[in-house]
Amino acid sequence: MKFSIASITTALIATALSSVACKPTQAMQHGTLKAIAILTGITNPGVAGSVTFTQTGPHDATQIFANFTGLAEGKHGLHIHELGNLLNGCTSLGPHYNPFNHTHGGTEGEERHAGDFGNIVANADGTATLNLTISTVYLSGPYSVIGRGIVLHAGEDDLGLGNSPLSNTTGNSGDRLACGVIGYASSD
Ligand SMILES: *[C@@H]1O[C@H](CO)[C@@H](O)[C@H](O)[C@H]1NC(C)=O
Ligand SMILES: *[C@@H]1O[C@H](CO)[C@@H](O)[C@H](O)[C@H]1NC(C)=O
Ligand SMILES: *[C@@H]1O[C@H](CO)[C@@H](O)[C@H](O)[C@H]1NC(C)=O
Ligand SMILES: *[C@@H]1O[C@H](CO)[C@@H](O)[C@H](O)[C@H]1NC(C)=O
Repeated sequence: MKFSIASITTALIATALSSVACKPTQAMQHGTLKAIAILTGITNPGVAGSVTFTQTGPHDATQIFANFTGLAEGKHGLHIHELGNLLNGCTSLGPHYNPFNHTHGGTEGEERHAGDFGNIVANADGTATLNLTISTVYLSGPYSVIGRGIVLHAGEDDLGLGNSPLSNTTGNSGDRLACGVIGYASSD
């Protein structure tokens, strides 16, 4: 059987195109993706909550909704951490997830980690909700947060503006009060 130049050329072009399309640095096209983390206060049993994530397309900002109960009244820092490893409780989730090598910050501006969510503010009854839209949180592609950790801290995040030596890495927000791992919430 003979191959024509045309069919070989077509095959080569198809191969070249498919290798471009499969580059891992390109986020795959997708419709709305949803993810959820269930946080537990592993050594603080009264504390519980969830954080849900909704992204309508690979380059869209992600809508984030958090809801906690059992908190001390006041501000608590909330951040995505690098790892999804709960082997040693919240401690083994590693440092803040920081794929773009920035210093710690709040929810706005250039200098902030990808999953810096600022503070969630608890009422006197210990409940707290937070509703944010963040453009540095991805649910697919090379910077996907799926499988990474999320930590609610005991204290207030100073958003990188404090005098503590920890201000520029953690916001000096204190102990890891509750934590969980981010996973897909539905299959579509
Ligand atoms: C927050 O969580 C509590 C406890 O699970 C639940 O009763 C409440 O409806 C939730 N609030 C929102 C706004 O989702
Ligand atoms: C961040 O720093 C790491 C380690 O130095 C490096 O491998 C990575 O390419 C940097 N990322 C960006 C987006 O600059
Ligand atoms: C969060 O805020 C957006 C925009 O203001 C709103 O459409 C959405 O319903 C809110 N989500 C919740 C769970 O309150
Ligand atoms: C945090 O970083 C900023 C910008 O690099 C710097 O101006 C500030 O002094 C640092 N804060 C601390 C407490 O080291």
